[in-house]
Amino acid sequence: MANSVRGYNHTKEQKLIMTNTEISLVQNSWKKLRGIQPQVIGDVFYSKLLLEAPYLKPLFKTNRPEQSTKLVAMLNIIVARLQHLDTLKNDIRQLALRHQ
Ligand code: HEM
Repeated sequence: MANSVRGYNHTKEQKLIMTNTEISLVQNSWKKLRGIQPQVIGDVFYSKLLLEAPYLKPLFKTNRPEQSTKLVAMLNIIVARLQHLDTLKNDIRQLALRHQ
């Protein structure tokens, strides 16, 4: 369970996570994109990623719409739970493993 020390949230191991202000900034920014289709968000995200790192292209085998849906669904879960990231640790760890 996260507790708050000098405005920062810490895990049990006292690792720095995010301040409540940072969490609000991220959640408010993400809320502004709510009405935008995942395909559009994914197109922007992956176009920028692949423009900056074209060598990553062969790693993406899933079609763009499906990949975008997964990206946005995962971001929805993560952004909604920034205050309780410790409870998401397992999901994020598994996602990271799928990124190897
Ligand atoms: C905001 C950060 C990111 C999130 C939330 C995210 C989320 C996801 C999700 C949910 C999947 C699908 C996993 C599955 O089907 O089991 C995925 C796959 C993938 N991601 Fe990410 N990702 C992020 C950033 C990145 C970045 C920066 C890279 C590039 C290094 C990357 C490379 C990949 C690749 C190569 C796949 C597999 C695609 C395929 O199977 O065709 N991701 N990501």
